[in-house]
Amino acid sequence: MSKFITFEGVDGAGKSTHLAWFADALRQHGPDVLVTREPGGTPLGEQLREILLNQPMSIGTEALLMFAARLEHIEQVIKPALQAGKWVISDRFSDASFAYQGGGRGLDWSKLSQLEQWVHPDLQPDLTLFFDVPVEVARQRLTNNNASLDRFEQEQADFFERVRAGYHKRVQQNLRRYIVIDAAQPMDAVKQKLEKIILSL
Ligand code: TMP
Repeated sequence: MSKFITFEGVDGAGKSTHLAWFADALRQHGPDVLVTREPGGTPLGEQLREILLNQPMSIGTEALLMFAARLEHIEQVIKPALQAGKWVISDRFSDASFAYQGGGRGLDWSKLSQLEQWVHPDLQPDLTLFFDVPVEVARQRLTNNNASLDRFEQEQADFFERVRAGYHKRVQQNLRRYIVIDAAQPMDAVKQKLEKIILSL
C-alpha cells in the first residue's frame, strides 16, 4: 500500500542528504518511490520557490505562496502518485509552514490551520521524520557548506530557535505521526536509525 512520508527539520539539519539515502534504501525493498520537495515539485511550484527563497515579501504573502505551491503539488504530483500505488517522499510539507511562518515569523497558528484545512483537508503524511538538531550545530553546518545562503538561511539564530520550537509544538500536537531523529549524531548513527525505520515500514 502506498505511503506519504515527509522529512522536516531546520536548515542545516542534514535532512536532504538523509532523504536521498532513505529513498534509495527503501527502493531496494521494492516500493516504487517518488521523491519530491517543497516549496516546488511542479513547474509552477519551482517558480514560486525561486521567488520565495529570494524576494522579500510580507509574512502573509509568504504563507499564501507556500500553500499555493502546495496545492499545486498535491493535485499535480502527490495525490496522482499515491493513487498509482507509489510511495511519495517529500522534502518538507505543511509542518514547515507552521514551523517557519508560524514559529519563525510569528504568523498566527490559527491562520495556518485554516490554510491547511483549505488546501489538504483529507491528506496528511502517514509518517514524518523530524530531524532535530541544536540550532548552533545547524548554523555551523550551513556556514561550512560554502553554497550561497537563501533568504531563510540568512536569518539569525533566534529565528531558527523559534522555527525549532514551532516544529516541537507541531510534534506535540500529533505525536503518532512523527519520529524525532537526533540529527546531531554522526551520519552513521542516523543511517542505522533510518534502516530500522525502513524495516518497520
Ligand atoms: P529547503 O532548503 O529545505 O529546500 O527549503 C527551502 C526553504 O523554505 C527552507 O528554508 C524552509 C522554507 N520553507 C518555509 O518557510 N515554509 C514552508 O512551508 C516550506 C515548505 C519551506
